[in-house]
Amino acid sequence: SLATKGSHRHFMEKEIHEQPEVIAHALAHYIDFADNRADTVAGLDFARIPSLAISACGTAYFAGLIGKYWFERYARLPVEIDVASEFRYRDIPLSPQSAALFISQSGETADTLASLRYCKELGLKIGAVVNVGDSTIAREADAVFPILAGSEIGVASTKAFTCQLAVLASLAIGAAKARGTVSEDEGQALVRNLAEMPRIMGHVLNSIQSKIELLARDLSKCDHVLYLGRGTSFPLAMEGALKLKEISYIHAEGYAAGELKHGPIALIDQNMPVIVIAPHDRFFYKTLSNMEEVAARGGRIILITDEKGAAASNRDTMHTIVLPAVDEIIAPMIFSLPIQLLAYHTAILMGTDVDQPRNLAKSVTVE
Ligand code: G6P
Repeated sequence: SLATKGSHRHFMEKEIHEQPEVIAHALAHYIDFADNRADTVAGLDFARIPSLAISACGTAYFAGLIGKYWFERYARLPVEIDVASEFRYRDIPLSPQSAALFISQSGETADTLASLRYCKELGLKIGAVVNVGDSTIAREADAVFPILAGSEIGVASTKAFTCQLAVLASLAIGAAKARGTVSEDEGQALVRNLAEMPRIMGHVLNSIQSKIELLARDLSKCDHVLYLGRGTSFPLAMEGALKLKEISYIHAEGYAAGELKHGPIALIDQNMPVIVIAPHDRFFYKTLSNMEEVAARGGRIILITDEKGAAASNRDTMHTIVLPAVDEIIAPMIFSLPIQLLAYHTAILMGTDVDQPRNLAKSVTVE
């Protein structure tokens, strides 16, 4: 099928706005699984495996990192994760009783495929979280978990990332039920939260646009940007930094908020904005205190938070993007939206080729 941009300026913009629809589609495929069929995941026996290995590259790797928090927290399943180019050579002591998940939009990334073959050789059961259903990675896996995002043309991944997250969250809930690590009620509540996601995403996309455009003007004048987060917001901070550097060519770094004092705080000044990703979760006040360390050193802060977090912080001293307060399990998907839009609108102001950034390829089939 021929992909078109429709009324959008770029594929990236179109793909950002498609998210409520494609996530709903992906969830429809998995929620039943997370809900009722938890113990029968074709090919992967989450109830019996002692641990899970995850490997991927780029944006898919950050999705995997967020997945690690979920599998560990909800399913009490230890996760070993690394970027595929390291994973394949690290000589990791992996148990053949374990399973391994490979996350890839294209299903063709050379390092990810090599990691898959390496694990297969060791006897692990292989799961593939892919967008392209007839890809090499999908074909070589024991179990395929399609993310159902539809074709993604923009080199910088957006809807594939949130669909990967939706699938990983569903799998983690399914694993938790199979392992008996959440109660029936807890499991139902998690599933209900997932089901609400498309509606909330639609609302957020309609409500933050003008604020984002204003803040992008600010970012487009900067040479460096720091992103901070804790818990699942830490991988999201790294994904935010990756998105900004990929398409605007502005140098950006994502850091664990608690690591600020161990280095990057030396860089804080008026010229380097700090984007703090802080939903009002159990880490909120810790991140808030890291934010105060930035403010005390004259740093400029853009706080991405929710209604509860906004009420609990002093908004006079910073810029804020305020999202609806949502359950912890869907926060990474909801908070992805301002992250993507900030990068997109900053790139527009920089005049870069948003869909085809210099030196990057959509799919990297060489090592
Ligand atoms: C390339 C793309 C990234 C992508 C990465 C992994 O570097 O530019 O956007 O995240 O490959 O691709 P995959 O298809 O394996 O998800």
